[in-house]
Amino acid sequence: MLSDIIDVLADPADGTALSGVDDFTRLVSESGHSFDVARQGFVTLAPGAGLRHRGDSMEMVRARETFLSRGHFAPFVEAVTSGVHDALDDAAVPDTARPVIADIGAGTGYYLSHTLDDVEGSRGVGLDISVHAARQLTRCHKRVGSVVADVWAGLPMRDRSIDVVTVVFAPRNAAEFARVLKEDGQVVFLTADRGHLAELREPLGILDVEDGKIERLVEQARGHLTPVTEPELIEFPMVLDRESIAAQIGMSPSARHIGPGELDRRIQALPETMTVTARAHLLRMGRA
Ligand SMILES: C[S@@+](CC[C@H](N)C(=O)[O-])C[C@H]1O[C@@H](n2cnc3c(N)ncnc32)[C@H](O)[C@@H]1O
Repeated sequence: MLSDIIDVLADPADGTALSGVDDFTRLVSESGHSFDVARQGFVTLAPGAGLRHRGDSMEMVRARETFLSRGHFAPFVEAVTSGVHDALDDAAVPDTARPVIADIGAGTGYYLSHTLDDVEGSRGVGLDISVHAARQLTRCHKRVGSVVADVWAGLPMRDRSIDVVTVVFAPRNAAEFARVLKEDGQVVFLTADRGHLAELREPLGILDVEDGKIERLVEQARGHLTPVTEPELIEFPMVLDRESIAAQIGMSPSARHIGPGELDRRIQALPETMTVTARAHLLRMGRA
């Protein structure tokens, strides 16, 4: 709930602290700005005229929920949770500290809720630009507060307030991550690598991940964040039926250039089940 994380949230316009009023139906900042909490329990924290991008559609969020609930990405979720544990251990955060984990582009909350279950007493900020994702995030875990915001417009969080930032296949604003991290805090990135879903690329006509993505991440973060580990390759086979393949494609923008009818025809032409490679790098970075 938002009340669990109110101490880390900030006015998106001027960074001042927020507090809940009228039974947490509104958040009000020290400078007097007011933000309504939606009936479903999330709050939109956007400066000025609001949000320009909309992020994942309802269909994409549903497809993501379907795919992830089948456990196909279990090794990814285990790796992210273990990365968070390692980050907390490096910073010697005691169990009693109620650490805050901010998941950026959190989607359905699959990764964040798994991590919160595993890290006793931890609290989560589930941030996404999509209101459809935000609705899911309010329901994903009782210790999650759900926030709609654009990572490129700045994070509506206090300076030095977050123990661990997680970014799973989502946009990266290194300067903002460095600003909100506590002194010894870390960012845990999971980034798709070339070869991810390789077996589906040709038959479905979808684009591959570009080369050198992890190197570019490190380069773009220079001056803000610096690696504390070597990138760890996480690669495993998934056995997917056509429904899971349709859900996987439906949750990503990779097939937007193909018409839905044509995409469906290509999926139906696939074997009943296929072994498909999942491949990504996990990287932890601390403040530079
Ligand atoms: C590929 S999905 C990953 C979702 C989730 N991390 C997962 O792996 O299941 C990317 C997510 O980032 C969100 N997103 C896209 N642009 C964003 C932005 N500028 N600010 C915040 N979230 C954004 C999308 O709405 C979507 O939920």
